[in-house]
Amino acid sequence: MSIDLAVSFTGIRFENPFLLSSAPPTESESNILRAFEAGWGGVVTKTIGMHPVVNVAGPKTKFLRTQPETGMLSMNRGRTGVLHSSWNWELISDKPLDWWVPRIARIKKAFPDRALIASIMAGSGSDKELEHWRTLARACQEQGADGLELNLSCPHMDREDMGSNIGKDQALCSYVTQVVKEVATVPVWAKLTPATADIVLEAGAVFRGGADAVVSSNTFPSLPLIDAESLDFEMNVDGYVSSGGLGGPAILPLSMAKMAQMTHAYPERSFSGIGGISDFAHALNYFLLGCGTVQVCTAAMLDHAVGPNVIKRLVSSLRDFLEKNAHRGWTRLEDFRGLRCDRVVAHSQIRRPDEAGYQGGYEPQEGYAEPVHS
Ligand SMILES: Cc1cc2nc3c(=O)[nH]c(=O)nc-3n(C[C@H](O)[C@H](O)[C@H](O)COP(=O)(O)O)c2cc1C
Repeated sequence: MSIDLAVSFTGIRFENPFLLSSAPPTESESNILRAFEAGWGGVVTKTIGMHPVVNVAGPKTKFLRTQPETGMLSMNRGRTGVLHSSWNWELISDKPLDWWVPRIARIKKAFPDRALIASIMAGSGSDKELEHWRTLARACQEQGADGLELNLSCPHMDREDMGSNIGKDQALCSYVTQVVKEVATVPVWAKLTPATADIVLEAGAVFRGGADAVVSSNTFPSLPLIDAESLDFEMNVDGYVSSGGLGGPAILPLSMAKMAQMTHAYPERSFSGIGGISDFAHALNYFLLGCGTVQVCTAAMLDHAVGPNVIKRLVSSLRDFLEKNAHRGWTRLEDFRGLRCDRVVAHSQIRRPDEAGYQGGYEPQEGYAEPVHS
């Protein structure tokens, strides 16, 4: 039996299930071409919008690292230590649609067999804003984009009718999806925000609007730490800071929890998992929870900006995994996708010890005081 790394996700063929997510690794034509050369199965462009974008003064992204021996956790103490997370307050692409249009066409011409998904974003507060969604969708698909990803999740947005503020409103995210679906000739994915109480509700809303897949997670709303010496936020402009997004290793378990809720509620639907992936072992979590593709940002940023080593490792480890599990008859992702979905259950369904094994809550455990028997 021969191994097949390719997947069909929402009807789009990907050479492998590993995509670069919408972020700095996919902000330019040269990055995307390098990404395809490196072997990424697909690329989601940096989000394209219609309104002018001006980023904050100074750095847009920093990386928190920890020194396990001292407990240090900082984004400003050099590049040694263990990566904890990325923190960013970068806006969507500062390049206008006109800039992207010829580039999408050129990228598709250079790599006709690779999947290019255009991430798009507009507002929702007026007919003009809704028309922007249609304009963006038409322009990108006309240039050959294989799919559209709706950014309903940008966490740093003051506008009430944009980004995660759409994603937090079931009616709005359903309606925006429907508006795009009416003009779309390619599959439409909805990227949801993890910053809601029950993401299953927003997933249901975008599916009702016609979404072909849900993508999760975008970054989690968060602040940079305050420096104990200067008492300033580690990232600030003129002393001021605003809520930004946390990505990287720290969010893998958080994002998995969101994903498990959705794949459990909608087992027949398509999901693309994002959050904290740098290795196949990380990606496997999402596959076993039912995802048909996964996307990577932070790890790729830290590996020559587009992740050439990350993708090599992901592809070779998927191949090794399939070879190791050939005895189970697994030759492709579909053979083990969703295998652990049904293992996430209500707390009350988790087995309790029987009487003989129960020590009244005094079992020795890391993080708890030594049992005292009185
Ligand atoms: C600097 C930066 C910029 C980002 N820009 C976008 C964006 O324009 N559109 C979008 O949908 N997500 C954006 N993201 C979110 C990522 O695509 C991804 O969802 C998130 O970083 C979690 O993945 P990770 O843990 O692999 O970093 C951005 C993330 C970072 C770090």
